[in-house]
Amino acid sequence: MPGTLEPYHSGESKVQPRTRSLSWREALPVLHDRLLKLKEMFTSKFGSLPKFYVRAPGRVNIIGEHIDYCGYSVLPMAIEQDILIAVEPVKTHTLHLANTNPLYPDFSTSASNIQIDKTKPLWHNYFLCGFKGIQEHFGLSKLTGMNCLVDGTIPPSSGLSSSSALVCCAGLVTLTVLGMNLSKVELAEICAKSEHYIGTEGGGMDQSISFLAEEGTAKLIEFNPLRTTDVKLPSGAVFVIANSCVEMNKAATSHFNIRVMECRLAAKLLAKYKNLQWDGILRLEEVQTKLGVSLEEMLLVIEDALHSEPYSPEEICRYLGISLEDLQTQILSPNTQDGESAGMLIFKLYQRAKHVYSEAARVLQFKKICEEAPDNTIQLLGELMNQSHMSCRDMYECSCPELDQLVDTCRKFGAQGSRLTGAGWGGCTVSIVPADKLPSFLANVHEAYYQRSDGSLAPNKQSLFATKPGGGALVFLEA
Ligand code: GLA
Repeated sequence: MPGTLEPYHSGESKVQPRTRSLSWREALPVLHDRLLKLKEMFTSKFGSLPKFYVRAPGRVNIIGEHIDYCGYSVLPMAIEQDILIAVEPVKTHTLHLANTNPLYPDFSTSASNIQIDKTKPLWHNYFLCGFKGIQEHFGLSKLTGMNCLVDGTIPPSSGLSSSSALVCCAGLVTLTVLGMNLSKVELAEICAKSEHYIGTEGGGMDQSISFLAEEGTAKLIEFNPLRTTDVKLPSGAVFVIANSCVEMNKAATSHFNIRVMECRLAAKLLAKYKNLQWDGILRLEEVQTKLGVSLEEMLLVIEDALHSEPYSPEEICRYLGISLEDLQTQILSPNTQDGESAGMLIFKLYQRAKHVYSEAARVLQFKKICEEAPDNTIQLLGELMNQSHMSCRDMYECSCPELDQLVDTCRKFGAQGSRLTGAGWGGCTVSIVPADKLPSFLANVHEAYYQRSDGSLAPNKQSLFATKPGGGALVFLEA
């Protein structure tokens, strides 16, 4: 059995498991070979041996897109692809970071003066987020230095959470170097918060599944407080990931943060419409909870309270009775308020709120169908995934032509449902495929999407693959 952190089931125990370390000789054969290779590379790079290794997985979100930061539950699973880091603590207070991928240059900095450049999402900044998060959690100013060699197998900018896996891995590396302990829930919360140092205002889905995942089960992740419930996926179905080959780094553009702000503004306008104290409200879920109504009823409230034409900043200010300056400094986040853009932005509050409340309902329906397992389970889950994609495309506008084409292709060749996964605007799709159709599905999608006659795509073996729920973050000690 590979070394694992103890599983955490919400509700089963009040004591949350602490991280623990096991020998890396116990790792699965594939991981064992990678660890050996990493050890050799580390030795030739730093001239010494690593003391331990940390692994944190990427994830695929099955359903529940762009709703974690609105306070709603999501339903991801960890994938096999991961970030693996070999580590040696040193006495110099210098952090040396290297990457096995030559595209990512070495980086060194003083461990007591961590600067994260929000203007350029360079690879090492994600490591620094995890490092700084743990450092700040324990209020430590003078941290020990370390040599780290990072190896990643998650395709970058593909919606499979390569960046959060690096933040989580770095957080667990730092915790281990310090010899401290935290529960997986605490680690997930710290890493979710510290990833904001890079400038994107993500929710907590990626970090939570990276720490709390367990092999063989997807997870319903609920927030405030963070907790997870196992969701057993139907045995006759396979989940297939397909990369559109359009790269999207959410920290490099303002799309992501603009959506977060639109949801925040929609929550405030809905609260004001319903005579709630709107200024303290940040999330759409808070409006629902304060009103004590169902998600379906919230969809009706939207119809009365919001119009489908985009809102200008001036209209929002008039409605809330605030100045443009208040809007810019108190409600919008840095990369949505910069330059001339704030005055030029338009906010599609009706569409965004409609997506969020309907998607939140789809997540609950998905879980219920998995639990009840009717005869047509796969078909029903597929329909929910198709509806989710439509809502992401039309209401949330986070798809792109290639993703739309790819989901159509996947449905055409046997997927019961297919949708974009992760932040969108590029990256991957996830499809639910009946197990007996898998071989023909893979062959046909490969031919139709990846073997383009113009040769414009450069797919590799990571472009189209079946996946199953993997385990969460681990520490391996040098054995
Ligand atoms: C990114 C964020 C997540 C989540 C998804 C969209 O992966 O990090 O928190 O918001 O986008 O569902």
